[in-house]
Amino acid sequence: MQKQTLLQHRECNTTYGIVLRVPQWVGKGFKFFLQPSFRLRFQVLRRNSRKRRFMPTLLENEKLEVTRDEMVDLLNDDLAREYQAIIAYTVYSQVIKGAEFMQIAEELKVHAAEELEHALKISQQIDYFGGMPTTLPKPVKTSEDAREMLQFDLENEQETVINYRTRIRQAEAMGEFALSEVLREIIVQEQEHEIDLASALGIMVPEKHE
Ligand SMILES: [Fe+2]
Ligand SMILES: [Fe+2]
Repeated sequence: MQKQTLLQHRECNTTYGIVLRVPQWVGKGFKFFLQPSFRLRFQVLRRNSRKRRFMPTLLENEKLEVTRDEMVDLLNDDLAREYQAIIAYTVYSQVIKGAEFMQIAEELKVHAAEELEHALKISQQIDYFGGMPTTLPKPVKTSEDAREMLQFDLENEQETVINYRTRIRQAEAMGEFALSEVLREIIVQEQEHEIDLASALGIMVPEKHE
């Protein structure tokens, strides 16, 4: 009886409200749930569910349920962004000047090659959906200033990440898990690009929400 009181008291002082709903007759067996390993797992689950609640929503003009034809158009938009990135990284990696930007210039060449890989993967998916891959890139901004070039790249990467997040949700809503997997692989690299650019600029990756 004393143990039960103690158990209740401890529960009142914790946030594990779920424990309170379990009948007292469960008794000693229920002490398992108060063990450190369980508490750790429970905290992780709570944190994850909180994260999910605050996950950004879809872009204003985009919807979760899309047809195959609409997905082709959306992927073509992504492909145009990949072309834009290939061109920007190819040019910027060659024209960027200044001793402090030499390291990032080398990194930009790597980005250019990765963006080409992305373009090939997206084109393959467009073909799988019965569409024709676009040949037109999004416009590429130019500048004489190294920092400005990196800033343009960073903004484009942010735009790309936002769009891929939406695309992943749309692919999953369609039950197209292979597409979702391909997009997830790409988004990992896009986020690395963001970090490289932000580091070169000496800033944190800025928050940009859908
Ligand atoms: Fe890319
Ligand atoms: Fe990228």
